[in-house]
Amino acid sequence: MIRLSHVSRSYRQQTGLPVPALQDFSLTLAEGSMTAVTGPSGCGKSTLLHLLGALDRPDTGEVEVSGIPLHLATERQRTRYRRETVGIVFQFFHLLPGMTLLENVALPLILAGAGKQTASGKAAALLELAGLASKAARLPQEVSGGELQRAAVARALVHQPRLLLADEPTGNLDSENAARVMELFHTVHRSRLATILLVTHSPEIAVQAPGQVALADGRIASQSGPP
Ligand SMILES: Nc1ncnc2c1ncn2[C@@H]1O[C@H](COP(=O)(O)OP(=O)(O)OP(=O)(O)O)[C@@H](O)[C@H]1O
Ligand SMILES: [Mg+2]
Repeated sequence: MIRLSHVSRSYRQQTGLPVPALQDFSLTLAEGSMTAVTGPSGCGKSTLLHLLGALDRPDTGEVEVSGIPLHLATERQRTRYRRETVGIVFQFFHLLPGMTLLENVALPLILAGAGKQTASGKAAALLELAGLASKAARLPQEVSGGELQRAAVARALVHQPRLLLADEPTGNLDSENAARVMELFHTVHRSRLATILLVTHSPEIAVQAPGQVALADGRIASQSGPP
């Protein structure tokens, strides 16, 4: 289960005045759910993902993922959480240019100390899931934007995280490539590989998720679908 309880996070401006990004924010999502997060620019979507990814801490309130209280965790526990429990996909893929897709997808496992063969085997399986088996030996600059983004999803899943966070994963793709990336998220959801939280500006993308949460000014404006 994912639980945010009375979370507030604000940023300090140059002027010294705080800008609230999330205000008294509470949200509960079931394990295995798939939820789209929408809302206007600046409403706190990325801030929400950063808190759930343990890339940021709340000022006040509680953030708990799969029984791990991130607001109480030490830096060491948070590092471990980032390595083991969560996978993150950004709008701009961040694959390393000098490495093949297979090497890119295997990298999180190698960094976590896995052997090269094990890591390559798992990476190959994820590329297969992403429909990229035939592109495994290509460099990032040798494949399309949609293929790159699916490789980024494969990389985010290779260590079998319980939570998959995606920030505008289809934001710079055409509708056909966006649809294929969404198909991959649906496959992950159906196979119960991870709980999915997907930030998007696109209403067409959002309605494809079983659950929707709309934010406005750092608060929940509406929520629909299963919790
Ligand atoms: N590092 C930062 N320093 C100062 N203010 C920040 C910082 N990060 C975010 N903010 C502010 O916090 C608020 C929420 O930002 P956030 O990035 O969560 O919005 P968002 O919903 O992801 O927007 P977008 O759709 O444009 O990506 C905004 O007012 C933003 O300007
Ligand atoms: Mg954002």
